Amino acid sequence: MDHFDYRDGTLHVEDVPMTAIAEAVGTPVYVYSAATFRRHARAFRDGLAGVARKHLAYAIKANPNLAVLRVLADEGYGADVVSVGEMKRALAAGIAAADIVFSGVGKTRAELAAALEAGIGQFNLELEEEGVVLAALAAERGLVAPAVLRVNPDVDAGTHAKISTGRKENKFGVPIDQAPAMFDRLAGLPGLNLRGVAIHIGSQLLDLAPLEAAYHRIGALVAELRAAGHTISHVDLGGGLGVPYKAGDVPPSPADYGAMVARVTKGWDAELMFEPGRVIAGNAGVLLTEVIWVKPGVTHPYVIVDAAMNDLARPALYDAWHDFVAVRPTGERMTANIAGPVCETGDTFALKREIDAVESGDLAVFRTAGAYGATMASTYNSRPLVPEVLVDGDRFAVVADRVAAEALIAAERVPEWLAK
Ligand code: LLP
Repeated sequence: MDHFDYRDGTLHVEDVPMTAIAEAVGTPVYVYSAATFRRHARAFRDGLAGVARKHLAYAIKANPNLAVLRVLADEGYGADVVSVGEMKRALAAGIAAADIVFSGVGKTRAELAAALEAGIGQFNLELEEEGVVLAALAAERGLVAPAVLRVNPDVDAGTHAKISTGRKENKFGVPIDQAPAMFDRLAGLPGLNLRGVAIHIGSQLLDLAPLEAAYHRIGALVAELRAAGHTISHVDLGGGLGVPYKAGDVPPSPADYGAMVARVTKGWDAELMFEPGRVIAGNAGVLLTEVIWVKPGVTHPYVIVDAAMNDLARPALYDAWHDFVAVRPTGERMTANIAGPVCETGDTFALKREIDAVESGDLAVFRTAGAYGATMASTYNSRPLVPEVLVDGDRFAVVADRVAAEALIAAERVPEWLAK
């Protein structure tokens, strides 16, 4: 459920017509609904009502905008970060250091040190050597780093290969069968409080079965570690819940997910940690764009919009589907290809798609663009960095500027020996 609806023939976000945003800010622009973020944050938490002890860490990578983080911090969410940049954002948004989890397969030594000094709540270790280095960095500073070991359960999440993380050939986690021996070696290190295990098998999961299989495996590991004398107080179950991108997508609801978690983890006696990203942010945002041209094509016309692959990379990267709807639909339909202005054939959002009929100058949106949208944007073709707007009831604000070519050029230098 989201808060993007038609009123009097015009697509609104909460109480604001898209046309007002386009007029005030221009296009392309990401538009977020604060009410939708809150709704998803609550639905996810409510779904987990059957889990007594839990920590919710929003996966910032999905949508790291500061205003979005504020909304989620107000909903009691901590943060899952994968870089010091994300950690700084979480702290800047007012999320307590203790509520921050640091994931990521390539944390640098400088990042580990910075996160230690900031006093973050947990490090999710991806390899044994990282644990050794973290322990030493912490001991040097007279600190003890709270940490869990991420294991790779070798489960196929059944999602796109580029966003699958839990198969043994993927780069993430340590092989689950090697985890007990690593735990033995790491658990005694001064500077490290190795207190549990973590798992994350992939993103945009539309089926609970692989998650359930992975959770059973990690549950068995917890029992094995305890039998070996280790204290396991925390288990991080990651993120991954999918969202509907197109008609026919039926992801598990947060309630279904929560019921499965409660059933599988019954008796674990640990604090469970969650890292939801897409399920919170996906349907809370759209990319608002204007049709530049409708260009005749050999088989179908090309609707050329002013958003491109640099603004929304998912279709080019993962062949992802984003619904495309007119802001003021006429009721007519057309079959078209939808493409952006970037000079690559890959800058195509859809082929031979039946859509609302549009003409040059019309406004339209790509839906379900709140997660992995703006955050993956670039300035390819020297296009401005796409701005972001947050709507809250009848108010809206620009929460990220359109970073124009002048600002990008100002950050570059011609060395003095080349300057005229
Ligand atoms: N935790 C870890 C360790 C992760 O690697 C991820 C996502 C999450 C949590 C959040 O997963 P979510 O709940 O959002 O599925 N750019 C891709 C998605 C990459 C996901 C990376 N990891 C896309 O646009 O589909």
